[in-house]
Amino acid sequence: MANKLVAKIGPSILNSDLSQLYEESQNLLDNGADYLHLDVMDGHFVPNLTFGHPIVKCLRRKIKDAFFETHMMVSKPEQWIENMADAGVNQYTFHVEPVEDVPLVCRKVQEAGMKVGVALKPGTPVEVVVDYINMADMVLVMTVEPGFGGQKFIEPMMKKVAWLRTNYPSLDIEVDGGVGPSTIHACAQAGANMIVSGTAVTGSDNPGKVISSMKDIVNSEIIKNF
Ligand code: DX5
Ligand code: ZN
Repeated sequence: MANKLVAKIGPSILNSDLSQLYEESQNLLDNGADYLHLDVMDGHFVPNLTFGHPIVKCLRRKIKDAFFETHMMVSKPEQWIENMADAGVNQYTFHVEPVEDVPLVCRKVQEAGMKVGVALKPGTPVEVVVDYINMADMVLVMTVEPGFGGQKFIEPMMKKVAWLRTNYPSLDIEVDGGVGPSTIHACAQAGANMIVSGTAVTGSDNPGKVISSMKDIVNSEIIKNF
């Protein structure tokens, strides 16, 4: 049977020139990005602030077709579901840590017409996903503490990715933080298939080459192992 898993690269524009959000985003898509990973921070769940649904909605007006994932690093993810759906977001990825009733939030995201991503901070044990995995389209394993681009990849997180891949062979598993040409092999070997990369892509002279080589590495591990 053909494997359902596909490698996808979703750059984060966090460390690029946000006054040029549309141009930067379109440039990444023109360079082969499969989706856009939009980092939303509220200054409370994480010690940093970025943007919210009004900006995402403006970006959607200019970019009609791309898959938008919002990575909600916010204390009350349930608060922004309708707004993000209205802004044209395709996948709403939220952190489980501040949420009391994760299945309820999953259901609300689905009802709003978006895919569900559940995100885990580095200190959160991977086993917590067991209770709501049947409602999630994707699990995001953070490979840095959420809040800032340009941090160092936390290699031990690969154990979580490998555990997920073993237990859920066809699940979309995303990694985010410090992922680039020097860390992509570890992610691919552990079983990640959705790759967020910020600095390594936007800081490169040749983003297209970085994106395509990371995609090739992930795809070849999928073919070999999964
Ligand atoms: C961190 C964000 C990441 C980050 C990725 O809080 O969720 O998406 O911006 O950037 P790099 O690849 O530079 O770590
Ligand atoms: Zn992110």
